[in-house]
Order: sequence, then structure tokens, then C-alpha cells
Amino acid sequence: MSSTVLEINSLSKRFGNHAALDSVSFNVGRGEIVALLGDNGAGKSTLVKCVAGLFQADSGEILLEGAPIKSGTPAKVRANGIGVVYQDLALFDNMSVAENLYAGSEPRWPSGLGGFAFTRHREMLQGARETFDRLEVRIPNLNTPVGLLSGGQRQAIAVSKAIAFANKLVVLDEPTAALGLRERTNVLRLVKQLPHTGVSVIIISHNLEEVISVADRAVVLRQGQFVGEVPAIQENHETIVSMIVGGSSHYRGAKQGGDHVRV
Ligand SMILES: Nc1ncnc2c1ncn2[C@@H]1O[C@H](COP(=O)(O)OP(=O)(O)O)[C@@H](O)[C@H]1O
Ligand SMILES: [Mg+2]
Repeated sequence: MSSTVLEINSLSKRFGNHAALDSVSFNVGRGEIVALLGDNGAGKSTLVKCVAGLFQADSGEILLEGAPIKSGTPAKVRANGIGVVYQDLALFDNMSVAENLYAGSEPRWPSGLGGFAFTRHREMLQGARETFDRLEVRIPNLNTPVGLLSGGQRQAIAVSKAIAFANKLVVLDEPTAALGLRERTNVLRLVKQLPHTGVSVIIISHNLEEVISVADRAVVLRQGQFVGEVPAIQENHETIVSMIVGGSSHYRGAKQGGDHVRV
């Protein structure tokens, strides 16, 4: 069994009297790709925001390599090696592609060093270009404000940003929803490469074929609760559908394998 990178223990989060997450627990191993699945409203994005430090859970804990992730510190989460693509992308429309790529991670320059700002901008553009080239994402002009780009390009930028800077965990909340076929294939190829560098992945997608092609394990939530987890393999396709929609217990016949199976 791979060593655990992320541990989610009895995580609960309420909005008013609605339990968006109700005592959810699961782990992510080093270099493992976990698909987080569930119908709309199951609590997936809420969980992502807890991992990212944007939401404070009401109870439970999230441990990254054994250390608790605290809320209110998304920059710290990023500094700790976690890259997140939020479902709503969270890009700054009025800022350029390059500025978006680095937003939240610029080094703090001492005041009064105006000359540095220009050099810094050039370095930033060069770094951004190298990042997109490495990721094979085609963005013709990095000075273009992000608000003028297509949905697919915006999604590619958000994914590039998460992947480029994370060295422990990448969390992708529906990263291919706005993409065409070629871009979708590209993103999935990049996701599949991450475990080779020891990076773990949590990916949310409604496309089960995509999930099965990329993930090791499927974790299913329903109405804020953990339903179960099974290997993300073709033989478990129907099982996973049953786990997502509920109302059936025949998923207990799931093909199991490895250490991470609970249904
Ligand atoms: N900021 C919020 N304020 C109030 N309710 C929210 C908020 N975010 C999510 N919810 C509610 O929490 C539940 C889970 O939402 P979400 O995590 O977005 O689900 P999913 O991503 O699985 O579709 C839903 O009922 C949703 O309406
Ligand atoms: Mg969501």
C-alpha cells in the first residue's frame, strides 16, 4: 500500500441546517489518482474547498502528510504543495494569462525597487510560456486578459496553474467540463503523468469513462455522506453508477482489489 499523503477524517460541514458533508472519511495515497464522484449537491466541491483551506469544516480534520490543513490560508495550502482547480475556475478576468498563472505565488519584493518590477514581469512571462509549453497548452498571447479567452482556454490555464506548482497533491473539480476533445485528452494525459513524479490527484468528473481511464480508485459521496470506494475499473462501471444514484445495494458485488475497498 502506498503511503498516505492526504487523510480526511470524519469531516463535516453544514450550511445552515443542511449538511453538505456528514462525517466523510477517506485517504489518498502517494502517487494515487482518486476520483471523487457523486450527483450534483453530493458535497464534492465543498470537500475541495475544505482541502484548499477556503472553508472551515465544522468538525473532523484533514491531514497533509500528517499535518492538519487549516482554513483561511489558501496561499499556505499552495505553498505546502497542493494545487487546486475550482469548479468555478477562480481566475481574475481583468488580469493577463501570465498574471493569473502567478497570482497568489509572487515573491514579495521590497518596496522602492521599481526596476525590479520590469525584470520580474519579463521573468513571469518567460516562466508562464515555459509552463504552457511543457504542458502543451496553446495560448498565443500571455498578455491577453483572461476574460477575453474561451472557456476551454480558461480551463487549460487553471489546470496548468494547479499542475505546474503542486508537488504533493493536485485537486481538480470538473477540470474537463468546458473542454473540447483535444484539450480534454491533453488534460487527462497530464493528470496521468502526475503520479510518475510522486504527485497525488483528486479528480471530480461526471464522465465515468474519463474517470475509469484515469483514476485508480473511485470514492463516492451521496447527500454529503461517504457511500463507498472501489477500484476505478471498467468492471465496476455499473457498481459506481449504483453507488452514485443510490437506492440499490447490488454494488456490494463490486470487483475488489488492492487495499482501498470499502462498500
Ligand atoms: N456557500 C454555500 N452556501 C450554502 N450552501 C452551499 C454552499 N456551497 C454549497 N452549498 C450546498 O451544499 C451542498 C453540496 O454542494 P456542493 O459541494 O457544491 O456539491 P457538488 O459539488 O457535489 O455538486 C449543496 O446542497 C449546496 O447547495
Ligand atoms: Mg461541484
